[in-house]
Amino acid sequence: MTAWSQRKADPLHCFLLASASGVSYNHVMQKIAGLIAMLAGLSQAQAQVSPAAQRGLQFSQTNCVRCHSIDKVSPSTLSIAPPFRDLHQRYPVENLQGPLTEGIRTGHPTMPEFRLDPGQISDLIALLNTLK
Ligand code: HEC
Repeated sequence: MTAWSQRKADPLHCFLLASASGVSYNHVMQKIAGLIAMLAGLSQAQAQVSPAAQRGLQFSQTNCVRCHSIDKVSPSTLSIAPPFRDLHQRYPVENLQGPLTEGIRTGHPTMPEFRLDPGQISDLIALLNTLK
């Protein structure tokens, strides 16, 4: 008998090999299940973003993102421009409705004066509400 066939014939060894591969199979399945749950959670989170907030995001990408951060994590491109996610800590974001209608003026000349129409404003506020 060769050493190989001796090993193969050893029942304990076979059992260990089988259970070892069983463990790693379960482990992989667990990971896959976790990944599927995570993906499901992600698409759910995305589904919760209203069309208004999506339009607000698009508007901000065009007009505001070159200075302000408009997401939950990144710093503002222009460091003195407050990230949009911080605005709600200063005042209820609905309060921006007036200033945005009349043309928002900040104490800082860097920010151009924007006048938004009511639709753009409610879209923007919808976006700000997703960043809380
Ligand atoms: C060229 C850069 C620039 C752009 C583009 C810009 N901002 Fe600003 N924004 C600033 C700066 C700088 C400040 C900080 C002003 C200050 O602290 O006085 C600011 C402040 C603000 C504030 C806070 C005002 C306050 O007093 O609390 C709001 C709200 C705001 N911006 C909204 C917008 C919106 C909406 C857009 C896009 C339509 C926009 N900004 C585009 C530079 C910019």
